Amino acid sequence: MSNTQLDISGKVAIVTGASSGLGESTALHLAARGAKVVLAARRLDRLHKLVADIRAAGGEAIAVQTDVARRDDMERLAAAAVEAYGRIDVLVNNAGVMPLSPLARLKVDEWDRTIDVNIKGVLYGIAAVLPRMQAQGSGHIVNIASIAGLKVFTPLGTVYSATKHAVRAISEGLRIESGRSIRVTTVSPGAVDSELKFGSSDPDASAGVQAFYEANQIPADSVARAVVYAVEQPADVDVNEIVIRPVAQEF
Ligand SMILES: NC(=O)c1ccc[n+]([C@@H]2O[C@H](COP(=O)([O-])OP(=O)(O)OC[C@H]3O[C@@H](n4cnc5c(N)ncnc54)[C@H](OP(=O)(O)O)[C@@H]3O)[C@@H](O)[C@H]2O)c1
Repeated sequence: MSNTQLDISGKVAIVTGASSGLGESTALHLAARGAKVVLAARRLDRLHKLVADIRAAGGEAIAVQTDVARRDDMERLAAAAVEAYGRIDVLVNNAGVMPLSPLARLKVDEWDRTIDVNIKGVLYGIAAVLPRMQAQGSGHIVNIASIAGLKVFTPLGTVYSATKHAVRAISEGLRIESGRSIRVTTVSPGAVDSELKFGSSDPDASAGVQAFYEANQIPADSVARAVVYAVEQPADVDVNEIVIRPVAQEF
């Protein structure tokens, strides 16, 4: 008995947080393999540029301005994907923020935003695509967690770490609940070069995290290739967990 790798050309893939970093690279890699990509983020100018790049290279893409923390936006995103391409085969729940600070600084607004984007955004993404995937009898949800979802990243990243633990719990629950037709993959990266490291308002945290990244980070396409690997597997194969660290990173 054997099964072979799938050709993903023609698959319809939504990528959230596609205006930068891992999401942008993942969208480019999926499009290069022939997937039709639906790009979501708040910065529409960035998405339009990426659409132009993908089309110039012979691929198919559309942009949908989306705030993942708004359930209505996620519904509109899924509807736009179906309107443009007729179905949704893959959702990459990638959008995320990482404002770092010790709990004692009480940056409660940043805690709220981190929870809204990193947890609620993932759940709203699932809510938007799950009924459609169930109706199709197939689908693949890829959630981007973090090494910080495997270990508690403290003292600076306790809330971020909590959100990424939540992403892993949601992924595993979704995998078990969604039965035989829907695949669920969690990707947990270590330090990857992107804009994420610039997201801390706390000056000490910002300087520390940027120095850490400079010493350790690997390029965003390291993660994009892993997402493509999971998506390319045959329909009866579900790559559940991928952990990718820079060789140099201990944490
Ligand atoms: N870089 C790393 O070291 C690393 C490690 C582990 C996990 N991760 C995870 O990887 C994912 C991607 O991060 P990245 O490193 O590529 O960071 P990034 O370069 O800062 O990209 C973050 C993306 O998320 C989008 N985003 C943020 N808030 C949003 C919102 N409310 N609605 C829609 N989109 C939103 C941003 O787009 P707009 O601002 O245009 O909306 C941007 O496209 C995140 O989940 C992050 O936690 C990253």
